[in-house]
Amino acid sequence: MDARGVLLALVLAGWACGGSEPSSSTASGNPDERADAVLAQMTLDEKIQMVHGVGVTGHAEPRGGAGYVPGVPRLGIPDLYLADGSVGVGNGVGPATALPSSIASAASWDLTEADKYGGLIGAEMKALGLNVNLGGNVNLVGREPRCGRTFETAGEDPLLAGRIKARHLKAIQDRGVIAGIKHFALNDQETNRFTADVRIDERGMRESDLLAFEIGIKDSGVRSVMCSYNLVNGTYACENGHLLNDILKGEWTFPGFVMSDWGATHSSVKAATAGLDQEQPGPVYFGGTGDVSLASAVTSGRMSQGVLDGMVRRVLRAIFAVGADRGTTVSGIDAAGGAAVAQEAEEQGAVLLKNAGSLPLRRSLSSIAVIGSHADVGVLSGGGSAQVIPVGGPAIRTSAPCPPCWGGVIWDPSSPLKAIQAKVPGAAVRYDDGSSREAAAALAASSEVAIVFVSQWESEGMDLADLNFGDGQDALVAAVAAANARTVVVMENGGAQVLPWLRRVDAVLEAWYPGQRGGEAIANLLFGEVDPSGKLPLTFPARIDDLPHPVIPGAESSSATFSVDYADEGLLVGYKYYDARDITPLFPFGFGLSYTTFQLSNAALTAGASSGFTVKVDVANTGSVAGAEVVQVYLGLPAATNEPPRRLVGWSKVMLQPGETRSVTVTVDAADSSHPLSYWDPAANGWQVAGGEYTVYVGSSSRDVIAAGTFHVAS
Ligand code: BGC
Repeated sequence: MDARGVLLALVLAGWACGGSEPSSSTASGNPDERADAVLAQMTLDEKIQMVHGVGVTGHAEPRGGAGYVPGVPRLGIPDLYLADGSVGVGNGVGPATALPSSIASAASWDLTEADKYGGLIGAEMKALGLNVNLGGNVNLVGREPRCGRTFETAGEDPLLAGRIKARHLKAIQDRGVIAGIKHFALNDQETNRFTADVRIDERGMRESDLLAFEIGIKDSGVRSVMCSYNLVNGTYACENGHLLNDILKGEWTFPGFVMSDWGATHSSVKAATAGLDQEQPGPVYFGGTGDVSLASAVTSGRMSQGVLDGMVRRVLRAIFAVGADRGTTVSGIDAAGGAAVAQEAEEQGAVLLKNAGSLPLRRSLSSIAVIGSHADVGVLSGGGSAQVIPVGGPAIRTSAPCPPCWGGVIWDPSSPLKAIQAKVPGAAVRYDDGSSREAAAALAASSEVAIVFVSQWESEGMDLADLNFGDGQDALVAAVAAANARTVVVMENGGAQVLPWLRRVDAVLEAWYPGQRGGEAIANLLFGEVDPSGKLPLTFPARIDDLPHPVIPGAESSSATFSVDYADEGLLVGYKYYDARDITPLFPFGFGLSYTTFQLSNAALTAGASSGFTVKVDVANTGSVAGAEVVQVYLGLPAATNEPPRRLVGWSKVMLQPGETRSVTVTVDAADSSHPLSYWDPAANGWQVAGGEYTVYVGSSSRDVIAAGTFHVAS
């Protein structure tokens, strides 16, 4: 055996004795060396096989899911089983635990909760025999709040979204499953997503959508990136050398591999040399029938062997680094454990938007009306590739509207009605389906409290026509509110909404898509057994006309491509746009109430320089129940940088007993992956810290802040 053979034998031994869960340092050895040793033994055909899938959903995947890449048994390269998983294991694999939507996880502003959320997805992927997760949707769809995939994302702010998703992704990979972050980049609307050509300048994208990816990738060590369907500045994202080679692999030194979104590859040599490593679901371009097969491109010298080897090496390195080659057998999921995680995620992520006094509900109530949205049997979930088939099966499954012409509309099997009844066994808790406003109003009028459930289904492949609750639900709420002054609205939806009835109702709870223990979690929140502590991860606009694009670009377009022009708002996504343009939102980013009250005082900067700063503030629970407050830290950059008034640079979630006061410290490091003090300078092609005055704010939402102090950076 030559030296290379000895090395191969040694590295293969790392997994040959395997079968148990990976312990990355010993089991995987050095992933670079292992990848090189295996690569050296591969034939051209085996290499080509690694750079494309062989499946389309529902056909060739032996374990279900979205894609399949056969391995090379003689070299110990495992089969890759790919499945979605933004909100639980997706693509109808399973059953699996239906978690509350990812946007709810972001609304918790709690990184430890995010670990549990991602950890559950990773564990269930593993248990179902799947080793590549496609769930890390970090698109800043706050640019287009009607985007049908908002529920899969983590909101409109690059720091919050990047950090929450990073924890999901790391937790997935810690379970031996390659995680993926997507859709790179600027896939912020679903309307004509295959032909949308996003136009934006370098600074605009660096400080918004790309920043969410940069944080998500650097903070997690995620090993796969999915490039998106759309074009960016005239070039398809999956053959965009500036995005893939220059920024992702060059500047950010991303060590993993880039896979295409499903059918987003438009060329072979061009895409491969621009940085695409794996075509999905394949094998049109990289396998052979596209413009030119990669195999013939290599043998004819049109593309260097080095490019192909680089692609394969990245895939192998990801497998070995994560341990995706170990423990790939199918076992069962822990359904009870999953349910507990789902319930906690909802309890921590629901946001109380209004409470004039009806909440928390008293156990002494003798009659409650529960109205609408199938609350007798279930809670709504989001659709598309992220759709989870919940444990126990759907409570209701209806056919989906077309577009998106996709799967079905599923209510997860958790009954808010039953959970509410269980809190007040002696009370008359009656249900009305809301199909007749008169009947619903009559029930409300004869009850002490009316709880109206409203829902808005959204899905990949569609954008919402507006931000109103459809099917007459707004009128239903108004009718019930007119009949009973103690009307509580519970919303099941994926993102921002406008609430025309807001002034008329007593209380509003944003439950997002609550997941398969949503009913129990909602009941706990309504009765105050859990204090609501979620904060909005996106702005709720007052009206559609306040959006940067009141009409979604390209809805009527049937041309090969059309422009989605972000030149005007650039980096001003979400609250940054509303703040810079002085538009009052319905509810600001970071907003959320509790059953107690908090007071911030003695805010002070204890240090401040170009390297970063530390801010301290006293937080007091001034109410009568225990609760958690999210102390948010925002920074205003020197006026000359022309930045929005404030950007989120840090936060801390703190739990306080009634009457308790705690000093909270938040340190912001300028060298952090989020570039908290910097702006992108196109002339220097890099991040810069400007000279001038910086103002530090602390508060409980982006619009409810106090200045903690200023510091000066010399020019
Ligand atoms: C979606 C991706 C998904 C893929 C595989 C595509 O339609 O855009 O997010 O991962 O399908 O299901």
